[in-house]
Amino acid sequence: MITNRKGEIMLKKAEEVSQFWAYDLSYSKNSDLTLLDNAQFIYELSLAELEIRVLGADFKITNGLREFKLNNKSKELDDRIIKRSSYFKTVGQTFIDYFHIIQKNRTRSVNQYLTHWIYPYKGKFHPQMIRALLNIIGLKEGDTVFEPFSGSGTTALESQLLGINFIGIDISPLCVLQGKVKTKSVYAWKRKREG
Ligand SMILES: C[S@@+](CC[C@H](N)C(=O)[O-])C[C@H]1O[C@@H](n2cnc3c(N)ncnc32)[C@H](O)[C@@H]1O
Repeated sequence: MITNRKGEIMLKKAEEVSQFWAYDLSYSKNSDLTLLDNAQFIYELSLAELEIRVLGADFKITNGLREFKLNNKSKELDDRIIKRSSYFKTVGQTFIDYFHIIQKNRTRSVNQYLTHWIYPYKGKFHPQMIRALLNIIGLKEGDTVFEPFSGSGTTALESQLLGINFIGIDISPLCVLQGKVKTKSVYAWKRKREG
């Protein structure tokens, strides 16, 4: 019998490794939005700002650049940021979906979650950055993105996680195969939503 078909063993292991610094469960209770611990570079802060702006947030940054205060709070905005953003850990006191995805589906490092790790492709995009860029260019669930140099399929998998359709081309059959395997063999944590 295959006991881990639904990822039960993986989820159990993830609980055990939740002490790893990248998944530190502490956050500021006074902050509307707290950045993920692995967001360390200035370009990541810029992407974080850009993506929540596109998602509709009006904000100011506090406390050493890692905590944000919202000027326009609403449940709809909170839900949008929780569901889509890539550089934040919490919205209010709720962990965002991406935090759960990287925490509960990780393999060796923060950027090797889900099937991103299956092949050591050197020219690979940074998956978290791709999730942010998909948001920044304004793609929504049901939209379609085209990548003419799809390589190992990073954009394909990140699009899939956001419910965005993906069309990719790559001259290398090995890359095409990687993209197919990455997207067809993925089982991701999904939040149970009300209603
Ligand atoms: C830097 S890699 C892209 C990596 C990809 N973004 C990822 O995250 O894995 C560039 C890709 O372009 C592909 N490529 C190069 N010339 C091409 C062409 N003329 N048509 C289609 N793909 C091409 C290569 O095979 C390579 O996989």
